[in-house]
Amino acid sequence: MRTAAFNKALEIINNRRVKAKAENDRHFSEVERSVPEIAEINRQLSRTSIEILKAISSGNNVQGQIKAMEIKNRQAQDMVTSLLLSAGYPADYLETKFTCPKCKDTGFYDGKRCSCLEELAGKIAVAELNETSPLKLCRFDTFDLSYFKGVQTNEDDDCYTTMSNNFEYCKRYASSFSLNSPNIFISGKTGLGKTHLSLAIAERLLEQGWDVLYDSTNNYLTRIESEYYGKSEGDTLDVLLNADLLILDDLGSEYEKTFYTATIYNIVNTRLNKSLPTIISTNLTPVEMEMRYDARIVSRLMTMYDYLKFTGKDVRAIKASRNSKESINMYR
Ligand SMILES: Nc1ncnc2c1ncn2[C@@H]1O[C@H](COP(=O)(O)OP(=O)(O)O)[C@@H](O)[C@H]1O
Ligand SMILES: [Mg+2]
Ligand SMILES: [Zn+2]
Repeated sequence: MRTAAFNKALEIINNRRVKAKAENDRHFSEVERSVPEIAEINRQLSRTSIEILKAISSGNNVQGQIKAMEIKNRQAQDMVTSLLLSAGYPADYLETKFTCPKCKDTGFYDGKRCSCLEELAGKIAVAELNETSPLKLCRFDTFDLSYFKGVQTNEDDDCYTTMSNNFEYCKRYASSFSLNSPNIFISGKTGLGKTHLSLAIAERLLEQGWDVLYDSTNNYLTRIESEYYGKSEGDTLDVLLNADLLILDDLGSEYEKTFYTATIYNIVNTRLNKSLPTIISTNLTPVEMEMRYDARIVSRLMTMYDYLKFTGKDVRAIKASRNSKESINMYR
């Protein structure tokens, strides 16, 4: 569960409770003004409860007193309801209207997080990722396998089958995710849907309340570096090392320097040791990976990660040429 989203959700739920109570107070004063009999009943009820407290502290026939109070209370409730109805109010006008009656807008029920809190935190986390990434466009239901139909490349003569398998794998991963889920290493040329499917997984899991982090490797590394040298505040590295699922997109797009390579090694290794799942995608081939990165990183990715090879023709380019054909046709 993402702490930031969780805290934000709790704040919203607390506000709901404060609002519901204030609204309830308003209803009370309104009714007491327009139906004086109800005001009188409420006064009597509060007097009775003071008497009960006295009885309890004196220890006299506590059980009996409480029983009598309960009966009085019920009678009073019935009277209030019929008075409300005859004054033209709905019968439940004096009940507090919580958004979640189960936890009375506290966010907790039965000593655990209420489902309303889990749901809201998931929605907030999705919205946060949406601000930086095109989550809406990159979902499983917008992934179109027909772009790979009949496509062959030098390395793969049946891109459609390969990509169908990759697609199914990602969907299964998202629907059955747990902290024991495998790591994934996605490799393939640009425009084949590596980012698209990574974001689709992220959205599903955020909705389920998992603490998922997604960004490009380059963004993460520049942030970690600037925090390391005190140029900005934050604990990005620590957060990355501990998330339920970390998605490092576009490994290899970062500038080549020792600090970055060391940090990547640190992230990969620490998360393996903690046995927390990680998804890494790259445009580099395994051979290019070996030329660029320490053998220790590459061997871990090749042996401890499930390897998904994406093949096909650049979908972004196909889309662009289809669009320009469409607009040419429009002017014919
Ligand atoms: N199979 C697909 N169906 C629909 N859109 C796709 C598909 N594959 C890629 N795209 C779209 O094409 C663009 C490039 O895909 P992207 O995931 O960024 O590629 P990569 O990360 O592999 O370079 C994105 O806008 C993406 O939504
Ligand atoms: Mg990408
Ligand atoms: Zn609730």
